[in-house]
Amino acid sequence: MTTAEKKTDIYKGLVGVTVDETKVSKVMPEINSLTYRGYPVQDLAEKYPFEDVAYLLWYGELPSPEEAKIFRDFERANRQVSPKIYNAILNYPKSSHPMDTTRTSVSLLALEDPLTNDNSIESNQEKAVKLMAKLPTMVAADFRARKGLKPIPPQADLSFSENFFYMCFGEKADKEFVKAFDVTMTLYAEHGFNASTFTARVIASSLSDMHASVVGAISSLKGPLHGGANEAVMNMFLEIGRPENAKEWMLKKFRQKEKIMGFGHRVYRKGDSRVPTMKKYYEILAKKTHRIDLLTMSNSIEDIMVREKNIYPNLDYPAGPAYYLMGFDVHFFTPFFVMSRITGWTAHIMEQLENNRLIRPLAEYTGVAQRKLPSLK
Ligand code: COA
Repeated sequence: MTTAEKKTDIYKGLVGVTVDETKVSKVMPEINSLTYRGYPVQDLAEKYPFEDVAYLLWYGELPSPEEAKIFRDFERANRQVSPKIYNAILNYPKSSHPMDTTRTSVSLLALEDPLTNDNSIESNQEKAVKLMAKLPTMVAADFRARKGLKPIPPQADLSFSENFFYMCFGEKADKEFVKAFDVTMTLYAEHGFNASTFTARVIASSLSDMHASVVGAISSLKGPLHGGANEAVMNMFLEIGRPENAKEWMLKKFRQKEKIMGFGHRVYRKGDSRVPTMKKYYEILAKKTHRIDLLTMSNSIEDIMVREKNIYPNLDYPAGPAYYLMGFDVHFFTPFFVMSRITGWTAHIMEQLENNRLIRPLAEYTGVAQRKLPSLK
């Protein structure tokens, strides 16, 4: 058996490869900054509600008060899902992972939406807002169904994040919880050509539809090297249990050459620009819920990781425990990421379609050289 001689450079994992232009966001690892349409994400997270950030990602500018009202009214009017979808959610196997059920729920939405196969810019803009509006309703119904509880319909007088807490817990949440959740929505919303966004763009580039691209993106986000890390971080904290166990646990993982979830990033090598903002809100929640022990443990893990490996935490590291302290079940953390990143994905799908070329890279063939078929017996 012979293998073909290597003739081209191979960029495994597409490391360092620029595949297209984008106007949606800019990741600047050299100055530890991330901007959405030119605005620093940490400023947006502090000063603007997630709804305005979604508008910015889609339309390129922050909304005027009038535009914000029209947009909010449309989002709030589209939160409801059909009885068939509620019914499907109630009947999902309870053993299934919420990322799998969320992916399935988006597929179901595609079956009902009359605009699914309409790729015009107007229809895609409408579908993007509807996906943002309906995802929390479906995730919250799934969250409750697993506890044997009936879904709570969305409330049009509540903001995106307030309504989500209401649909999960049946009561208005504390303002600090709502703000921290809303901050996670803004920080998770967009991040350049990450794996799930690139997946969405690849699917869109074949002129498939927006729902199909989003289903693919959700599948990519599920992986623990990507969005699945926020869940994995919290499971790690639960496994370690107490701050005093952290050092020994880490040293064992280092000996076994295992990765520590919530650390490292393909683009940021000296720290993730979103972490300081998220850490601030995680600290507020830890104090409010009297869980300084959790904060102490995560801080000591971070210190060990930076000292021993020079690897810094990414957004999932403070976001995972923040969701935990808000009272959510761990396996729902990555669907929350979906509820946010739906805005970035759909902005990229529309950008891809504005100036589309089928994404179709090459591979260096290293298999068996061309040969004759054996004669049939
Ligand atoms: N724990 C321990 N070691 C890590 C690490 C982690 N979380 N992240 C990277 N490293 C090490 C690798 O083992 C590798 O070491 P080596 O050169 O001695 O083999 C080196 O750092 C480079 O890592 P690599 O996986 O090749 O970098 P990448 O750019 O391909 O991967 C991630 C980036 C995010 C996939 C990677 O850092 C990772 O797996 N992190 C954990 C999962 C996570 O938190 N994902 C969320 C990302 S936002």
